[in-house]
Amino acid sequence: MTALLDAAERLSREDLAALQIERLRATLRHAYENVGFYRDSFDRAGLRPDDCRTLSDLAGFPFTVKADLRDHYPFGMFAVKQADIRRIHASSGTTGRPTVVGYTERDLSIWADVVARSIRAAGGRPGHKVHVAYGYGLFTGGLGAHYGAERLGCTVIPASGGMTTRQVQLIRDFRPEIIMITPTYMLTLLDEFERQGIDPRSTSLRVGIFGAEPWTEEMRTEIEERFAIDAVDIYGLSEVMGPGVAQECVETKDGLHVWEDHFFPEIVDPVTGAVLPDGEQGELVLTSLTKEAMPVIRYRTRDLTRLLPGTARVFRRMEKVTGRSDDLLIVRGVNLFPTQVEEIVLRTPGLAPHFQLRLTREGRLDALTVRVEARPETPGPVRDAAAGQVAHAVKESVGLSVRVEIVDPETLERSVGKIKRIVDLRNGPEARA
Ligand code: DLL
Repeated sequence: MTALLDAAERLSREDLAALQIERLRATLRHAYENVGFYRDSFDRAGLRPDDCRTLSDLAGFPFTVKADLRDHYPFGMFAVKQADIRRIHASSGTTGRPTVVGYTERDLSIWADVVARSIRAAGGRPGHKVHVAYGYGLFTGGLGAHYGAERLGCTVIPASGGMTTRQVQLIRDFRPEIIMITPTYMLTLLDEFERQGIDPRSTSLRVGIFGAEPWTEEMRTEIEERFAIDAVDIYGLSEVMGPGVAQECVETKDGLHVWEDHFFPEIVDPVTGAVLPDGEQGELVLTSLTKEAMPVIRYRTRDLTRLLPGTARVFRRMEKVTGRSDDLLIVRGVNLFPTQVEEIVLRTPGLAPHFQLRLTREGRLDALTVRVEARPETPGPVRDAAAGQVAHAVKESVGLSVRVEIVDPETLERSVGKIKRIVDLRNGPEARA
């Protein structure tokens, strides 16, 4: 196995730290000298790039938030001239302007390297066929996965998202070993295999590399059992690069190794912004260490997790992301993440892994209804019991009273990419959270 690792994956912790500080100082200088936004924000904080002498000095530097990228729409965060930008990606966001990111040729090459490293950590090897069902286009999922798989020496099947019937046919006919897809779209494929009378356990797939949205251990078990594959987690975000910032190793499945030679992670208290020690839960903040086109300094991801020591790799791990602070529902003063409901639904006999959270207002109080599909074979009394079990478990674990509606199979909208779990009907039927 060691023979398969990159040079960086074989560094000692000390050598890694030396590499990180050198790259960090170069990144701070590059950002300060070439991006007006960083120059102003460092100046306001009374800091110069060379004030960062150790990795912990980074904590004194200002954060960057999504609004900063929007305010400099479209290209104001770029640190190189336009002619050196080889590619643009953008994430749509729910309101207003998209967030635009850019890459130089070297950035694209490093991105391909880290995704190749991710696929290898997931169990991929040169010669494997990789079915990419992340969307291609401005979204970073499709093209990010694509070039990484090519870099590793795999055969890429660039299926993109959607056209579910055809996805099943391609998997049957081309016989890929690996699939890269959102976990909820994988569930949509599962339905389609079953609709076509094909046993999903009989496919050529051996490994699924799932990301772009939060998913739980319960979802891992569901997907692994129904497809007879290993399911591992891949994390990333367009502001920092795209998929391949962190990856779970198939041999341990114990959280995601952050590729720390290119991305420096910190965990901060989401309210005060204070840096928290490893092991404590908080918001992930990322600083790029090698990016040219768009360096990011202390980017607030809004993703909640914690940092743990390395296991299968020298790099620290981040625990599976429980959710974004944006997805946190506060209902009658009680905090709830959709992943908490996912865990409960998937543990409850008779229920399918398809659910939706509907927020309504009754008088002055918010109310939450969990709509869950029954599995096809579930008899009426089991459905009724399941509703009670879900309501009880949510009350027990979260402390919130919810209404639970069990609906017929195939009635909830299916995902073709990132799923939208929350339907916000508090301001009339049009408003969606
Ligand atoms: O979703 C990049 C990506 C594509 C990652 C394919 C993995 C696979 P964005 O559209 O910018 O980029 O969305 C980034 O998605 O801040 C998280 O909230 C969420 N996210 C991404 N991966 C995971 C994951 C891509 N493995 C946002 N677990 C991030 C939980 C994830 N959330």
